[in-house]
Amino acid sequence: MNRHLSVHKAWNPHDYIPWSDGKNFYALGGQDWEPGQSQLSDVAQVAMVQNLMTEDNLPSYHREIAMSFGMDGPWGQWVNRWTAEENRHGIALRDYLVVTRAVDPIELEKLRIEVVNRGFSPGQNQQGDLFAENVFDSILYVTFQELATRVSHRNTGKACNEPIADQLLAKISQDENLHMIFYRDVSEAGLQIAPNKAMHALHRVLRNFKMPGFTVPEFRRKAVVIAVGGVYDPRIHLDEVVMPVLKRWRIFERDDFTGQAARERDDLALLIKELEIACDKFEISKQRQLEREARRGDLRITALQLHTTKDKLTLSRR
Ligand SMILES: [Fe+2]
Ligand SMILES: [Fe+2]
Repeated sequence: MNRHLSVHKAWNPHDYIPWSDGKNFYALGGQDWEPGQSQLSDVAQVAMVQNLMTEDNLPSYHREIAMSFGMDGPWGQWVNRWTAEENRHGIALRDYLVVTRAVDPIELEKLRIEVVNRGFSPGQNQQGDLFAENVFDSILYVTFQELATRVSHRNTGKACNEPIADQLLAKISQDENLHMIFYRDVSEAGLQIAPNKAMHALHRVLRNFKMPGFTVPEFRRKAVVIAVGGVYDPRIHLDEVVMPVLKRWRIFERDDFTGQAARERDDLALLIKELEIACDKFEISKQRQLEREARRGDLRITALQLHTTKDKLTLSRR
């Protein structure tokens, strides 16, 4: 906790918002949002909204970690401090998107209400079953989740292709990185104290891993857009999130896992192989999808050319 407080640098969300680009909406005599006002690509819009919705579900995360860690001493201090830092992310992303008219603000508000009503628990799989058993599950889950969020924000910033968004998302990802380091090192201490118990939790968490944003409406469709757009895909998940943490904890080198925990470590090796196969499969289907899109693009261009030729002919006849 002390280390986090000493390395975290305060920053202000308002410094990353181009306020002079903003205009009133209809309710205050201005114009309501229209799709043509957005300067962001489809991929950047989907990724931005998904990242904001993930941040917006903060009330659920706060409740979850408060129940799991308790509110005594440094644990409670962390719960509150972490919540305050996370809240800034949602504030900054929403301000940016609304001021620049990058996405539909009505849709944003509808989604936020839906997402907060659905709630989230880290120990929840796609079917809604609970698998989390103890504080280990929570701390290990958030280690991977914070890192995944860091990478996803960073790549979303690049996908925006716009310097202010890029700086804002880089700033947010620095926070996520410090959160990851906090949880990663608490987990590591836990691995030292109770290796077998930690391994049971690690195995449960990685076998059931889902991004916190999976409760957002149309998550599957959006996840495909984000993956094909290169913001977050199976390869990034394996190489930049799962593996660096497992290496840091020396999961496959330690000799302190016994019995069931040793079998779970072996199953994690199997899981990595399965993830490798999933990465290859994804690359193949991504290529196919890109080719399909390119062909569709060609057809659109041909149709446009035919149309223009027809217009020219009609004009010349006149
Ligand atoms: Fe965040
Ligand atoms: Fe975070």
